[in-house]
Amino acid sequence: MNFREIMVSSSSGPYAIRLGNGIREQIPDLLQTLGFPKNEKVGLISNETVRVLHANALSSRLEKKGYPVVNFDFHDGESYKTMDSVMSCLDKLLSVKWERKNPLIVLGGGVTGDMGGFVGSVLLRGVPVIHVPTTVVGQVDSSIGGKTGVDHSEGKNLIGSFYPPKAVWIDPSYLETLSLRERRSGLGEVIKYAMIGDKKLLEFLDSALETLASKNFDREVWEKAIFSCASDKARIVSEDEKESGIRMNLNFGHTFGHALERVTGYQGLLHGEAVGLGMIVAARIGTLLGITEKGTEEIIVDFLQQAHLPYEWPKEIAYRDLERYLRNDKKSSSGMVTLVLPVRPGEVVRTNQYELSVLGSAIP
Ligand code: GLY
Repeated sequence: MNFREIMVSSSSGPYAIRLGNGIREQIPDLLQTLGFPKNEKVGLISNETVRVLHANALSSRLEKKGYPVVNFDFHDGESYKTMDSVMSCLDKLLSVKWERKNPLIVLGGGVTGDMGGFVGSVLLRGVPVIHVPTTVVGQVDSSIGGKTGVDHSEGKNLIGSFYPPKAVWIDPSYLETLSLRERRSGLGEVIKYAMIGDKKLLEFLDSALETLASKNFDREVWEKAIFSCASDKARIVSEDEKESGIRMNLNFGHTFGHALERVTGYQGLLHGEAVGLGMIVAARIGTLLGITEKGTEEIIVDFLQQAHLPYEWPKEIAYRDLERYLRNDKKSSSGMVTLVLPVRPGEVVRTNQYELSVLGSAIP
């Protein structure tokens, strides 16, 4: 089978993203090609939901091809993205005498990927990690670039490390089992890539967003959209692995999005839905500051509507509820926050630090 390949540079050397419908069947062969011999232990880290849908099948496939598999499942959901969950996984792997040469395959969405990657980065001071993302956010964003970690009661992703994987294997057909709401939520991240600089993706979404948001899952169209986003992400993290410049652009919509997720206890809005609203707020702030061109907010709203994503601010959430979490955002310091604001569709700027207290005027 022919799969698309995208190379990523990292401080630990280059790694390849392989992408294509049907890649899941090739995983044992890909593992061998990557230099992991049969008969040696492989970890398959997943979560309870993905276990039933996909991890049992992958585990059997690996065993059949001669890989002894150690399975571990996190509980499903952002509320379990904690040090306790990470410790349970470490306990299990250490109890079976894990060795540095044994790889971990991390199969799941963003939460599982972040925690599995973190386990890989601290276990025995680092074991090889291969990400096999099964959600839109995982496939277009979080599996690429080596960010790993857990949440803290003070905010999202406040504990973690940069730990580049050995490989990322993306099979868009995994998305078929997601609920329609989850799949549409992932489109919030896809729209983000178009807004921050991918002009071809902007054009593509104009014609493809309806198909991507529809109930019927179109593998080919999804593969194209994921390839565009994954290529953008690979280029950005290759240039700025540790997020000192252009990688910050990926946070477009996330400063307010993360705070929204936190304030609703990760129960109200899905990640991509919160990012969508966060992009609208960014456009409003940009407009107030004279940075964002007229019509940009309307284009974001139009994309979100086509994707069936929320575009109106939740009435029950006020700015003062968010402020505490904005203060704890990794990008804020001394009550000031660096913002990524749109200039126009396809172009964003990173602004100087703004006083958090003045940002409230962008929220109704
Ligand atoms: N998800 C944003 C980043 O990887 O930098």
